[in-house]
Amino acid sequence: MPRPSPFDLVRDALRRVEAQFLEDTVSTVSGITEIGQYLHAGGGKRVRPALVLLAAALCGVEGPGVIALATVVEMIHAATLIHDDVIDGAETRRGRPSTNFRWGTQKCVLAGDWLYMQAFKVALQLRHFGILDELITLTQAMVEGELLQQEMTGRVVTREQHLELIERKTARLFSVSCKLAAMLGGLGDDIIARLGAYGHHLGLAFQMVDDLLDLTASAAQLGKPVGNDLREGKMTLACLDAYAAASAEGRAHFECVLRERGYRSVAFDEIQALLAASGALTRARLEARQHAERARELILLFPPSPYRDALEDLPLLMVERAS
Ligand code: IPE
Ligand code: IPE
Ligand code: MG
Ligand code: MG
Repeated sequence: MPRPSPFDLVRDALRRVEAQFLEDTVSTVSGITEIGQYLHAGGGKRVRPALVLLAAALCGVEGPGVIALATVVEMIHAATLIHDDVIDGAETRRGRPSTNFRWGTQKCVLAGDWLYMQAFKVALQLRHFGILDELITLTQAMVEGELLQQEMTGRVVTREQHLELIERKTARLFSVSCKLAAMLGGLGDDIIARLGAYGHHLGLAFQMVDDLLDLTASAAQLGKPVGNDLREGKMTLACLDAYAAASAEGRAHFECVLRERGYRSVAFDEIQALLAASGALTRARLEARQHAERARELILLFPPSPYRDALEDLPLLMVERAS
């Protein structure tokens, strides 16, 4: 019999997370509730809450605290996206107008702030200082990541700088999501560290694929425009690699898109051709697969269970995804 999808395995618990999210994002000021819940209603893969739930089940940790933690990571994620779309001036998210496009910058900045604080408030109810510390450190690292991103915008950065960035903006939250339930259950430091390492590699693989999809998928698949990273002045892994391998003319093409923040003088097709010809897309995909494989190896150190199977399957599902 084929294995159930990792998401199906925790479907009931995910429904409870959805319900708690809707309950916990209600403010006495309606604008805040509307913005948080609008973004939520737009869908989203719910990868981070699923990680909390699967890691909890793997470790035999259960109860309302687990649902609360899964809700908290999705709230932090939602707050990040609301602020990120303001910063990036995004017009679409999850296939719909972005929150900033609908409500404007001012309201979204405040709604994002409120949502972060609400996430901490929900977490505070667990009375677990280690978890609170983890969530605060995480959020600061992500905010610092957004700031670093701004300094790097429009520039050709080093591979190391780029990797630090994706660690902060994505891998850290994946890693923390995998650790939280084990922390709540009082499991050993070695188990917590292993789950954290699993999430770290999964998160890096996830972001690398996300960056690749921006260069190779269609807008309909992604629910947002493609070629967007370069348009926003962001050189991701494959672009950095192709740039390093390119002739002076090829480099000038990348520089032109970064400078113009768009594809006026150089078409996106020309960038795609440079990427394909240099083999950079293939190499970036391989690197994503290597992180996925590392995550898989780490999870196989746990005793067999359907939850381990799900966490084993997730990395490959993430790197093979089309949206
Ligand atoms: C979007 O994350 C931001 C990145 C880290 C690339 P997701 O791709 O998980 O977004 P949703 O929640 O499914 O919309
Ligand atoms: C997403 O970052 C938000 C964070 C994870 C901080 P990006 O700006 O790179 O991604 P999208 O394309 O808007 O989802
Ligand atoms: Mg963005
Ligand atoms: Mg951004």
